[in-house]
Amino acid sequence: MDKKVVIITGSTRGLGLAMAKKFLAMGHNVVINGTSKESVANTLAYLTDYKKQIAFFAGSVALPHTHKKLLEAALDKFQGVDIWINNAGIPQPYDYLVNLNDETIVNITQTNVAGVILGTKAALKHFISQNKGAIWNINGFGSDGDMKPRLTVYGTTKRAVDYFTRASFKENKDQYPWLTIGTINPGMIKTQFLTKSLEGVDTETIEQNIAFNAIFASAAQDIAEKIVPQILAAPKGFSHLRYMSLPMVLSRLYKARKILKKMK
Ligand SMILES: NC(=O)c1ccc[n+]([C@@H]2O[C@H](COP(=O)([O-])OP(=O)(O)OC[C@H]3O[C@@H](n4cnc5c(N)ncnc54)[C@H](OP(=O)(O)O)[C@@H]3O)[C@@H](O)[C@H]2O)c1
Repeated sequence: MDKKVVIITGSTRGLGLAMAKKFLAMGHNVVINGTSKESVANTLAYLTDYKKQIAFFAGSVALPHTHKKLLEAALDKFQGVDIWINNAGIPQPYDYLVNLNDETIVNITQTNVAGVILGTKAALKHFISQNKGAIWNINGFGSDGDMKPRLTVYGTTKRAVDYFTRASFKENKDQYPWLTIGTINPGMIKTQFLTKSLEGVDTETIEQNIAFNAIFASAAQDIAEKIVPQILAAPKGFSHLRYMSLPMVLSRLYKARKILKKMK
């Protein structure tokens, strides 16, 4: 088998960890990343069976240094990188713009937008040196232009990720025809991300959202199970990968219709 080397930002838990596990179980090599040394150490302990297939670096994707170190970690241990997944992302508190503190706004935009741009740049520069490589960025609420009160900042960042990925393809496709680049729409995921986004919200909204999420959100491992083989099989050029098929969306919308009617 052709063993790939895959850098996955934000892979200490959630979707990033689920994708890492799937790649590892298929025999590929993965570079693990999260913001803290502690969360990375916990993840390495959890993935101890795959020790030989793992390199790592703890650091925020908002810092250019982190991407440089992720690449170095991959080159030191595996002598190359084939796939770079800019997965790290954080939610906004479920609240109106005027209530968000400035530090939170800066943190969300730096992580979700600057993190993806810096990661794409680092990946592309390396891939140009080897004339091959694939870059994947994670879409989310807002990527398709959807708007919802109290998700304005997060939605803006995900709209930016979608735009940036498509624009990067347009900018580079003629010069680097070997490049694979694309977006992944995982749908809602049952992760800490969802619970964190409800912190500080009134009880009624929390109850409605929990009920809605129970129907709509999918397990990270189910998403990874479907998406990772698609990442490995993706052709050159631009691709948009999506976990939820239309029948899945329709059947979940039907189940959630009563909750949706009540939601503010
Ligand atoms: N959950 C959803 O419903 C949903 C829906 C659509 C799209 N998405 C997107 O899917 C991606 C993964 O979400 P998730 O639900 O799996 O999130 P999650 O469970 O909260 O995990 C987030 C991961 O990102 C890492 N991280 C956070 N900030 C970082 C930073 N500045 N630098 C490096 N790593 C950072 C965290 O590591 P540490 O804790 O170690 O820092 C953790 O490994 C995100 O891009 C998110 O926007 C999520």
